[in-house]
Amino acid sequence: MQSFGGPWTLLKLNVLDKYLNFYVTAMQRKPFRLCYFDAFAGSGNIDIKDIGPIPGSALKAIDYPFDKYFFIEKSEDYAHRLDQNIIVKSKNKNINYEIIIGDCNELLQKINSFQWYKNYWRGVIFLDPYAMELKWDSLESIAKTEAFDVWYLFPLSAMNRLMRRDGNIEESHRAIINDLLGTIDWEEEIYYESPQLSLFGEQDRERVHVTEIEKYVIKRLKTIFPGVSDKSKLLRNPVNNSPMFILCFAVSNPSPKAIKISLKIADHILTHT
Ligand SMILES: C[S@@+](CC[C@H](N)C(=O)[O-])C[C@H]1O[C@@H](n2cnc3c(N)ncnc32)[C@H](O)[C@@H]1O
Repeated sequence: MQSFGGPWTLLKLNVLDKYLNFYVTAMQRKPFRLCYFDAFAGSGNIDIKDIGPIPGSALKAIDYPFDKYFFIEKSEDYAHRLDQNIIVKSKNKNINYEIIIGDCNELLQKINSFQWYKNYWRGVIFLDPYAMELKWDSLESIAKTEAFDVWYLFPLSAMNRLMRRDGNIEESHRAIINDLLGTIDWEEEIYYESPQLSLFGEQDRERVHVTEIEKYVIKRLKTIFPGVSDKSKLLRNPVNNSPMFILCFAVSNPSPKAIKISLKIADHILTHT
């Protein structure tokens, strides 16, 4: 079984669970086929330290009646275990699913080449990386489908480790952050000149507060998605209160009506979970 996460893992899965419940109910009478897409699918079960084993996102999602499920997983071993877990869980149900082994970035960047998505399909995409594996280009491709609602667990602590407080960022780390945020302009927004001079009389840089970084991530998402929740959730490690992830929600469908309904529900779930 995969071991990772903490109390924030329960929270993110709880949010996803509530949203999938809303989504399939709301879309019941609409003329679309429904698709669930899990780009970092995992093995199906998670063993959380001090909490124990729980079903992960993929096994939770098959509780809901989507017409098709796509699970992408980089690890062959986890993908195989996920398949076994789905077979066991779905004993008497006929579930239309596909497990794709590979890097989700390569696959997501092709997602928009299927025109049929836009015309006949709607769905939810769950993006749940360990750290900074998701490239901005993949988010751009998803936004262009105009068909998916997106939950993204943004890797705040992993990014903050590279975005050093003093602003001395290694060139290779800068490139990784550029790929994550899809711009080179983040440095101007995240750092400011410290009012204090250093020991050697030089002007130091300081990093903005974590809540400002959260706002910046939401601002970036708004550059590509027509609807983004302002109620994103900062998930902290309760042991030391350190910020771990930002749970973000975005809508790719440009219809004002679709955006309004999805945001209303996502905002409610984010506020009350
Ligand atoms: C945090 S876990 C996801 C857990 C899953 N959502 C769940 O709730 O059980 C991240 C998973 O993504 C996989 N992974 C990492 N990088 C990937 C990539 N580039 N493409 C696809 N899967 C990847 C890892 O092997 C791991 O199983």
